Amino acid sequence: MSVDFENLRRLMMADRSVRRFKEEEKVSVSTLEKLVELTRYTHSGRNAQPLRYSLVTSDSLRAKVFPLLKWAGYFPEWDGPEEGERPAAYIIQCLDTHFGPDCLCDDGLQLEAISLGMRTLGLSGCIIKAFDAATLRIVLGLESRYVPRYVLAVGYPAEEVKIEDMSGKDDADFKYYRSADEVHHVPKRPLSELLLK
Ligand SMILES: Cc1cc2nc3c(=O)[nH]c(=O)nc-3n(C[C@H](O)[C@H](O)[C@H](O)COP(=O)(O)O)c2cc1C
Repeated sequence: MSVDFENLRRLMMADRSVRRFKEEEKVSVSTLEKLVELTRYTHSGRNAQPLRYSLVTSDSLRAKVFPLLKWAGYFPEWDGPEEGERPAAYIIQCLDTHFGPDCLCDDGLQLEAISLGMRTLGLSGCIIKAFDAATLRIVLGLESRYVPRYVLAVGYPAEEVKIEDMSGKDDADFKYYRSADEVHHVPKRPLSELLLK
């Protein structure tokens, strides 16, 4: 089987974090299931595959999940997307602690798989770590063995995101920012900075 490298690269470049969505464009449970199915094929430490997913699409549950999330730490004056621009769905990644207290890097690998899959379907999202996990567990009615690790906000994008090449910029100048035209800019380091001499 052959997969074109340039297409993979383009997909990865297009897979940017988005925080404003067309909330009225719904995302079905079957679409979310299709995305989670991709995680079956990711690498897994010890092949234990300890991650589980809770899917949120209903208006009532979305309304309970949203206030538990913290958006864009570099925009302290912004409380996150307004009504009408909030995520149409959430995929909540949970660790089944029955298999141990950590999951090595399985969580990141699986989030990346889902995120790339989303982009192929025209969806965008944002991986969120800053959230009230204890309350989320109650809201979702999770058994104590399941610990929420990440929330992935999902929806059809309502904002443009551009990669900025960090070449020639200050090494520590990596904060994303929003320009006056409402475009979100995300600085990325050049290859030359990633390779150790
Ligand atoms: C592990 C991890 C945790 C993150 N947590 C949050 C978060 O709590 N809130 C948020 O708005 N964005 C969060 N993000 C999104 C990052 O801010 C985003 O990935 C970064 O700005 C780079 O943009 P990009 O995803 O388009 O490359 C998180 C991303 C990752 C990978």
